[in-house]
Amino acid sequence: MKPHITSDYQDDNRQTLAEKFLFPVKPVNKKRLYNSVAGKTILITGASYGIGALLATTLGDYKVTLVLVARTTERLEQLKIDFANKACAVHVFTTDLRDELQINTLLQNLSSLQLKIDIFINNAGKSIYRGLNASLDRFHDTKRCAATNYIGPVQLLLGILPGIKEKKGHIINISALNVLLPPTFGWSAYQSSKAAFDQWLRCMEPELRYGGIYVSTAYLPLVRTRMSMVNENKHHQPAMSKVKAVNSILRLIINKKRKYKPWWLGLPILLNTLIPGLWYQLQLRNLKKRDRHAVH
Ligand SMILES: NC(=O)c1ccc[n+]([C@@H]2O[C@H](COP(=O)([O-])OP(=O)(O)OC[C@H]3O[C@@H](n4cnc5c(N)ncnc54)[C@H](OP(=O)(O)O)[C@@H]3O)[C@@H](O)[C@H]2O)c1
Repeated sequence: MKPHITSDYQDDNRQTLAEKFLFPVKPVNKKRLYNSVAGKTILITGASYGIGALLATTLGDYKVTLVLVARTTERLEQLKIDFANKACAVHVFTTDLRDELQINTLLQNLSSLQLKIDIFINNAGKSIYRGLNASLDRFHDTKRCAATNYIGPVQLLLGILPGIKEKKGHIINISALNVLLPPTFGWSAYQSSKAAFDQWLRCMEPELRYGGIYVSTAYLPLVRTRMSMVNENKHHQPAMSKVKAVNSILRLIINKKRKYKPWWLGLPILLNTLIPGLWYQLQLRNLKKRDRHAVH
């Protein structure tokens, strides 16, 4: 299935005082970033839009080989043109991560070009917010999210893992902070698929690390991108800027920490431990309120 070509969401990257407080990501030290990436081959999935595109554009200023993967050929080709005068080398591959055959083709292409990956950034993602009643005839929502956010990335990662192992590389997963929080209605397809990959990777992590591979996860909050801003309600919620999201990922490349998560994330987790079921009860109240409004 061919996606529509749309323009990317233009984030002005300004942050309100509250957003500065909630998401204090320091800028990246360019020298340290250079030392961490120079000469490396970096595969970014979902490089055509949003966080992935900005990440690719930022890394393109360094002497790296970028391997950019997404479905929208035109956007990838445009990036290649934009990078023509930059320090990097670029390979772009149109691949739908929901399609096993397309991933096999990508793996064959990487192998025939002898591209072994040092840093794998699992960034491509599909998000859906849909409640129960609207989901009854939409089994495909769950299938698409699972394929994009879980099954496809597992297939791709297993295929490139021998190269990453040889190079003692780094796997960075772009996840969502909701994965660490109690579940929320409407997000079943998205959250379950993000949680599945997170769990898969964390099960693998001790063996990967033992084999010399670093594993990091960015548990991002709401970020202003095409994915989130499609939902009007999100426009007024505190959100991280795209630049900060990219900086949090670049900082993981540099410091190789296991996690990025907002500093306050422990508070809701603690609250849920102290008062189990609180979030669940609040959601029930919310649903009742919503139904009362719908009747009047
Ligand atoms: N935005 C947020 O609030 C937020 C919060 C937490 C975590 N995240 C995570 O951040 C990551 C990046 O999202 P974003 O906000 O930058 O969204 P975005 O602007 O919509 O970008 C998503 C990227 O994934 C690619 N993609 C989607 N389906 C694909 C498929 N089947 N095969 C290959 N590539 C596919 C898209 O490219 P094509 O359409 O060209 O294929 C696009 O490049 C995602 O993993 C998301 O879950 C986002």
